[in-house]
Amino acid sequence: MELPVSTPDSGGKKKGSYTIETRNLSYALPTSLYDEVSGIFCCKNPKRPQKFIIKDVNCEARPGEITAIAGPSGAGKTTLLEILAGKISPTKVTGEVLVNGHPVNAKCFRRLSGYVTQEDALFPLLTVEETLMYSALLRLQGGKKEAANRVGVLIKELGLEQVAGARVGRGANRGISGGERRRVSIGVELVHDPAVILIDEPTSGLDSASALHVISLLQVMVAHQGKTIVLTIHQPGFRILELFDRLVLLSNGGVLHNGSLEHLEERIKFSGLQIPPHINVLEFAIDVTGSIVIQTSETPNVHFHIKDQGEKKESLRKDDEGFTVSNHNDMVDKCPSYANSYVEEISILGGRFCKNIFRTKQLFATRIIQALVAGFILGSIFMNADNNLGQVALQTRLGFFAFSLTFLLSTMTEGLPIFLQERTIFMRETSRGAYRVSSYVVANTIVFLPFLLMVGLLYTVPVYWLVGLRGSMDGFLYFAMVVWIVLLMSNSFTACFSALVPTFIMGTSIIAGLMGSFFLFSGYFLSKEKIPSYWIFMHYLSLFKYPFECFLINEYGGKGGKRCLESERGECKLFAIDFLKQQDLKESLKWTNLAVMLSFILGYRVLCYLILWCRCYRTRN
Ligand SMILES: Nc1ncnc2c1ncn2[C@@H]1O[C@H](COP(=O)(O)OP(=O)(O)O)[C@@H](O)[C@H]1O
Ligand SMILES: [Mg+2]
Repeated sequence: MELPVSTPDSGGKKKGSYTIETRNLSYALPTSLYDEVSGIFCCKNPKRPQKFIIKDVNCEARPGEITAIAGPSGAGKTTLLEILAGKISPTKVTGEVLVNGHPVNAKCFRRLSGYVTQEDALFPLLTVEETLMYSALLRLQGGKKEAANRVGVLIKELGLEQVAGARVGRGANRGISGGERRRVSIGVELVHDPAVILIDEPTSGLDSASALHVISLLQVMVAHQGKTIVLTIHQPGFRILELFDRLVLLSNGGVLHNGSLEHLEERIKFSGLQIPPHINVLEFAIDVTGSIVIQTSETPNVHFHIKDQGEKKESLRKDDEGFTVSNHNDMVDKCPSYANSYVEEISILGGRFCKNIFRTKQLFATRIIQALVAGFILGSIFMNADNNLGQVALQTRLGFFAFSLTFLLSTMTEGLPIFLQERTIFMRETSRGAYRVSSYVVANTIVFLPFLLMVGLLYTVPVYWLVGLRGSMDGFLYFAMVVWIVLLMSNSFTACFSALVPTFIMGTSIIAGLMGSFFLFSGYFLSKEKIPSYWIFMHYLSLFKYPFECFLINEYGGKGGKRCLESERGECKLFAIDFLKQQDLKESLKWTNLAVMLSFILGYRVLCYLILWCRCYRTRN
């Protein structure tokens, strides 16, 4: 069954068009730290030979054409596309990438073009329409109305009407099909109607009908809007192959062929090879890559040269037909800035965060149930621990405070996989200039404020009254505030480390290790005096220390200070206020500790921002 392909609405606008060219482009794998170090210490063979992934590539993609980069797996297709898309910085490659004959301005080009990676990085809990809508809101000026119009057009163009309201889904929670997801990924990059579209493997994993649909769609865009489309492809069928205007055949990082399909066929025949029936030219060419003469600028071949000139003329004619050819300055002039103001970005991203949190059942529902259940269970275990006097009762209560903090600080780290999953999307969006890194960090912080306040209250309300802590409203409110701030601290800590670590396993190991040592140095197990001086910094960095002291002061300071904690023969031996003095805790710490905790939150968030910014900066350069 052939899926319908609608004609996109070009809106009658003349879009600038771009010719992309590479000249003697080579890219070697960056040397690892190991190589650098061994280079310093080994005297004989200080440097391993560099591994070139792309070697001396000369190719061209023109407006109004689909250029397909083909070749066997590992040939360097993705790498070449990443260089064209500006994902690999021009400073890391040798040779040139030219746009309309001028060296590419990677930053502008990234914003002007649309780049679809091979892996679909989408929010599984958003619907197809919402996914496109958020992308449109972030990339288009003109607010909701403009975005909704564009999304409506895109959904029609991409043939996604049937699944517009369905969630994208992932893994076990299957949502839309693979082909539909691929089209959504393409749609996300098409919202701002880029003049250049780069797509890595648009058809891999799709059945032949869906694959044909995707390529036909691109073909229609090329024909009607004069876009420059470059895509990589693995094993196209006959019908798909016919839709390509230009083929770049790669093998081991080098170009075997750069031109039309007919041209390739002629070259194969010229090399004395016979194409068997029922095998398409490209498939055969990939099979016999070793036998095709490599095409370089020096390859003398008058016949092909003439043919190429013909192709060029054809293409120029197309340019004349109504697509304005942009020049380089034009690109710099048009280099789009952010579509939204700072505040608008925060509000859009905040809305998306909220949707994701509320729909992440594991996070949302379990956090709520966990807080409530833990509150009731802990409450019932430590119930009225204060009715008795003496050291045991005091120790029990201290144990309750310590355990509460362990619970509050450690359960928040389960947000790590969600943060990590989002990081891929974040990197993609910021590299294409969709929003500022700072807006993302601020929106993320703001969204968690009410959510964690609710979680904190669900825990505090049962536990505070069941355990029988100091029975006054101000005591309860202060306790609830400390719990809230502890949750925020833990959340910021996790956000910061999720920006830093490469993988989930490393993230959980580091976070668990640090949390454990924070607990150890909190002052609960080892008093401050007993901690060796060279470890004392850990005491001050401990996320446990400050709220633990706050709990003690709230319970045993102020109005509760006159309470008797230990008595002998009717005479009080230890008043609460004396206990605090023993612990070297002043009443004023009640607020200074809160300030320290707030500065921890701020510090971790700023660190998170800096790490994310560095990550983006590294990708940019
Ligand atoms: N960052 C990297 N580290 C190590 N090897 C890499 C890296 N990027 C690419 N390669 C290697 O370069 C070759 C080309 O990769 P790629 O461009 O992904 O190929 P293709 O997309 O054609 O399958 C492969 O052999 C791959 O293993
Ligand atoms: Mg690839």
